[in-house]
This record gives sequence, C-alpha cells and structure tokens, in this order.
Amino acid sequence: MKKIYKLLTVGSVLSILVGCGGDEGLNDDTSIRDYSGFFTALPEQAIYPENNPYSKEKSDLGELLFWDPILSGNQNVSCASCHHPKFGWADGRAFSIGSDGIGLGPDRHGDEVTPIHSPTVMNVAFTGISVDTNTDNFTSGPYFWDLRADTLEEQAIGPIKNKIEMLGYNFHEDEIMTEVINRLSANDEYVDLFEQAFANEESINKEVINEKNIAKALATFQRKITTSNSRFDKFLNGQTDAFSETEIIGLNTFIDGGCVTCHSGPMLADNLIREDEKIIDSLDAVRTPSLRNITKTAPYMQDGSRDTLARAISIYEDRDDIGVSVGEDDFTGLEIFLRTLDASVYSHIPARVPSGLPVGGDINQ
Ligand code: HEC
Ligand code: HEC
Repeated sequence: MKKIYKLLTVGSVLSILVGCGGDEGLNDDTSIRDYSGFFTALPEQAIYPENNPYSKEKSDLGELLFWDPILSGNQNVSCASCHHPKFGWADGRAFSIGSDGIGLGPDRHGDEVTPIHSPTVMNVAFTGISVDTNTDNFTSGPYFWDLRADTLEEQAIGPIKNKIEMLGYNFHEDEIMTEVINRLSANDEYVDLFEQAFANEESINKEVINEKNIAKALATFQRKITTSNSRFDKFLNGQTDAFSETEIIGLNTFIDGGCVTCHSGPMLADNLIREDEKIIDSLDAVRTPSLRNITKTAPYMQDGSRDTLARAISIYEDRDDIGVSVGEDDFTGLEIFLRTLDASVYSHIPARVPSGLPVGGDINQ
C-alpha cells in the first residue's frame, strides 16, 4: 500500500502523521476523551503485601539473590540470566536457555531451552491491577502465562526447582532447596544479610535462612522494578500536552479497535485467559500480557515469534474472532501510542555477589 508521510508542526512539537492513499482507514479522531473507565496511571510506588512488607534490607538482599548463581544447581545460572535489565528484565530471546547456558540475550547458547517465552519482571508488583483496584488492600498476581502461581513469593522458588531453568541434572528438585540453604548458611555475609532483613519478622528460634525467606526477599526486590511516569501516565494525570495529535489518534484507535477489551487498566492488561479467544490460533490461550515498556521487551508473544512491535501489532489485522477491528492503516498509530508507555526503569547491576561467583552467572563469556 502506498503511504503518504506528512510533516506538520503542532506548537513546537513536530509530529509525524502517517496517512494512507484514500480517506478511509486511519482513525483520525484527535479529540481527548474521558479515559478513566479504561485506564488509570500506574501507581508511583510499588505495592507491598501485608504478609511481606517492604524493608530496604530485604529488598537489597533479594537483589543479590536475584543476581547470584548460588541459587542454581550448578552455580552457573541466576534469575538475571533470563531477566536482565539490558533486555527490559526479560532476555531478548524467543525461548530462554537455562541450566547449561553460556552468554546473554540473543548470544546465549546451550541445550536446555524453556518451552515458553520469558516475560519481563518489570511491574510485577502491579500484575492484575485494574482501574477499580483499591491499592490499600491489593494483592498482585496471579503469575505465569497460564496463571499457575498466585503470588510472587510462590513463583520465586519455581525456577530454582526447574531442571531446564536453574536446577540442572546434578540435584533432585526435592533436595535443591536444602542444598541452597546449606550453601547460603555457610556464607557469613548471607547469614548477616538474612538476619538484618528478617530481624523483625522471625521468632528467635527459627533458622532465618529458609525457603520462605528466600522467596520473600526475591519478591520484595522484584516489586521495586516499576515503570511509572511514562508520557501516558502524565497524559492520564491531566497533562494533555504530553501527547501529540498522532498519539491521541493511536490511543483512540486502541479503544475503538477493541484492543482495550483485554489490554485495559494501569498495566494495559486484564491478566485474564480467554480460552475461546486465542491470539495465535495454533497455540494455547494465555493471559493478556502487560504492554508497559513494550519497546524494551522484544521479541513478543508467548513463543517470541514476533520480533518487532510492528509485527506483534500486525497479528491483529481483521480479527473479528476476538472482537478486534483494525486494519493496516491503523498499525502505525497503534505503535506510536504504545511507544508512549516507555518509562525509565531501575537497571542497576550489582558489582559483586556474596558467593564470589560471576554476577548473573555464566552470562558474560
Ligand atoms: C532459564 C531462564 C529463566 C530463569 C533462570 C528464571 N526465569 Fe523467570 N521466567 C522464565 C520463563 C520462561 C517464564 C515464563 C514461564 C511460564 O509462564 O510458564 C518466567 C516467568 C517468571 C515470572 C512471572 C512473570 C509474570 O509476569 O507472570 C517471574 C516473576 C519470574 N520469572 C521471576 C524469576 C526469578 C525470581 C528467578 C530466579 C529465582 C527466575 N525467574 C529465573 C525464564 C527464567
Ligand atoms: C481478546 C483479548 C485481546 C485483544 C482484544 C487484544 N489483545 Fe493483545 N494480547 C492478548 C494476549 C492473550 C496476548 C498474548 C498472546 C500470545 O502470546 O499467545 C497479547 C499480546 C499482545 C502483544 C505482545 C505483548 C508481549 O509482551 O509479547 C501486543 C503488542 C499486543 N497484544 C497488542 C494488542 C493490540 C495493539 C491490540 C488491538 C489491535 C490487542 N493487543 C488486542 C490479548 C488481547
């Protein structure tokens, strides 16, 4: 299709309007509506559950555990091997390489490959949030593409016990946590860090390095990785000049085209599985993923089969089966809107981890 690119100046902002030959197609509604029934801004602070309240000590400990390959069977893989800030806290791969992997991102190689694409851990503190959520008593979740883990605490031990991800073949899944706890307990630095992190939570006679506390620390750290204050949040908070006309068109198309049926709320995801409305025919239905910071987490979809955002959006052409009515002419506007969800994100990498092992595992070779 022949496209006409027009440049126009709106105040001092230069925005690019992409039109199409003919006057039908591209939604050209530049009016600002009341969006509050569809979206609200992402909270500026992470939400921590009552049974695992925030403390800096716990969060910092969780960060070290997240990067320390000491949690893996062969002490070579960490959570960060597959959830790395360089790839938007995912791994930039269609499928992840785990327990025998070497390298990072697209360059990582090895034989142990996960059956599904690694989602980001950005904004996991807000998974499941909706426009109606009362943040005073919100519990985030459930997690995973099939929603099988209710909480982040429950999720955190899963990868450690998974042969492909972190366990490898030298330990049984029933013995690895004892092994990990022994390793951590033999490390004076970890003993101190766990005591500081859980001083107020544990009764005196209990060993402070245990499975529950490892999970609590990992969950607390991950809740810190949030991306509020995108231009979309500013726009929703009333700063209407945060959006160009083209971005408003994209937003209105996102609503009128039917994307908002599933991609709604502060996360642009209802986190629900619709068995009868599969996005990719040949694969099982999965939960609606968040679209926050979406430019940072290619490739897309549960099988990582769409390598660019444009290719992910184009899957929605003529999709009456899922109630979506957008055409090729709308894709650019949709993408321009989705790019307004970018926000800066915490991306610190610790200089060292207490085990003395390579930070992040075998990811730098
Ligand atoms: C080998 C790569 C790999 C490693 C290592 C790994 N993960 Fe993951 N992670 C994945 C994949 C793949 C999924 C999706 C699995 C699924 O949905 O069935 C996932 C899912 C998650 C989710 C769910 C996110 C969501 O939105 O539902 C969280 C949270 C998470 N991982 C945290 C961790 C933590 C914490 C660790 C370390 C203890 C870790 N991961 C280690 C690959 C990995
Ligand atoms: C019926 C619910 C539904 C509707 C409507 C819908 N989506 Fe999705 N979206 C999903 C689900 C579910 C996935 C994950 C699908 C998979 O991986 O199999 C997804 C994935 C995506 C992804 C990739 C996210 C990632 O991290 O991999 C993008 C981008 C996206 N949708 C944009 C849109 C746009 C734009 C529209 C409207 C044109 C739209 N969606 C309409 C449910 C929906």
